[in-house]
Amino acid sequence: MDSKKVVFSGIQPTGNIHLGNYLGAVKNWVDMQDMYDNIFCIVNSHAITIKQNPKELIQKTLDLACILIACGIDPKKSNLFIQSKIDYHPALAWILDCNIFMGDMTRMTQFKDKSNKNPKNINVGLFNYPALMAADILLYQVDLVPVGSDQKQHIELTRNVAMKFNRDFGECFKIPEPLILKEGARVMGLDDPTTKMSKSATGKNHAIFLLDEPDVIISKIKKATTDSNSNIVFDENRAGVYNLLCIYEVLSKKNRASIEDEFANKGYGVFKNALAEIIIDTLRPIQTKYRELNNDKKYIQEILQNGLDSVLPRAESTYNKAKELIGLL
Ligand code: TYM
Repeated sequence: MDSKKVVFSGIQPTGNIHLGNYLGAVKNWVDMQDMYDNIFCIVNSHAITIKQNPKELIQKTLDLACILIACGIDPKKSNLFIQSKIDYHPALAWILDCNIFMGDMTRMTQFKDKSNKNPKNINVGLFNYPALMAADILLYQVDLVPVGSDQKQHIELTRNVAMKFNRDFGECFKIPEPLILKEGARVMGLDDPTTKMSKSATGKNHAIFLLDEPDVIISKIKKATTDSNSNIVFDENRAGVYNLLCIYEVLSKKNRASIEDEFANKGYGVFKNALAEIIIDTLRPIQTKYRELNNDKKYIQEILQNGLDSVLPRAESTYNKAKELIGLL
């Protein structure tokens, strides 16, 4: 019997996948693949909480699968599938909806952020987003959920609704733990280091995308916000430099003291060149693999189908149990 802990995580096929997604989530999924029984989901049903062009959404969903595999998600070690292929996700979300209090849901800060950004489309799905996310996780009897720190509140809600359901109706769901690594958990925007790097931000130099060409990366890093001090040290009060140093720290795997030594008495120019270089070197193999895979759409479809076939019985079994416990025929 496979006694490995079950890991589940998801990513939306909206916008372009960026360095924050990679360092906060995808890199950790890849690095930990050998240790766990892994399920990774492209959460396209979450994506429609924001208006999407239907044809583009299909394209972006398949493209994201391709990028994730290029990043190193190995179909022999991990199951990768598309959320909308399993109807138990929205079905369980409904059952959870009926067990989440309005007060708890209205506390979710992501809803507030996203509604501020999309004032013309504050829809019920956007409000309800955390219930669907809880369903994603709870369907698979998950131990760990590796995410960036922005998702912590959603996982807390997931744990609370699972415990409440188990208490009220009988044992049904495993209680998951968030897995948030300190490094890379919150990469900030290059143009504004007080806001999280995000797919939806509009600034041209806000984010490094995984498929950015080297000259684009160099230019974005050169323009990244720093400050008028010149020493290069880890100081959280100097948000711009701190953010760039944290990115360098994760990618170089060096410790903070040796990084500060490396750039002592050197200007931002030298540091930014080194940072751009390490980002380019990290992304190069991903981009090469992506171009290769992009020519083999059949292979990507096959991986997604195998992932789906393998996880579907788990979702079905949990859903049926929840349905029975709550008294639905
Ligand atoms: P999404 O697509 O917005 O983000 C995917 C992952 O990237 C992380 N992330 C970041 N990490 C560090 N710095 C950043 N600037 C940054 N921006 C994003 C996110 O924390 C996330 O881990 N709600 C999820 C999708 C989801 C999900 C799930 C996740 C749906 N169902 C079930 C886990 C389990 C999200 O925000 O995706």
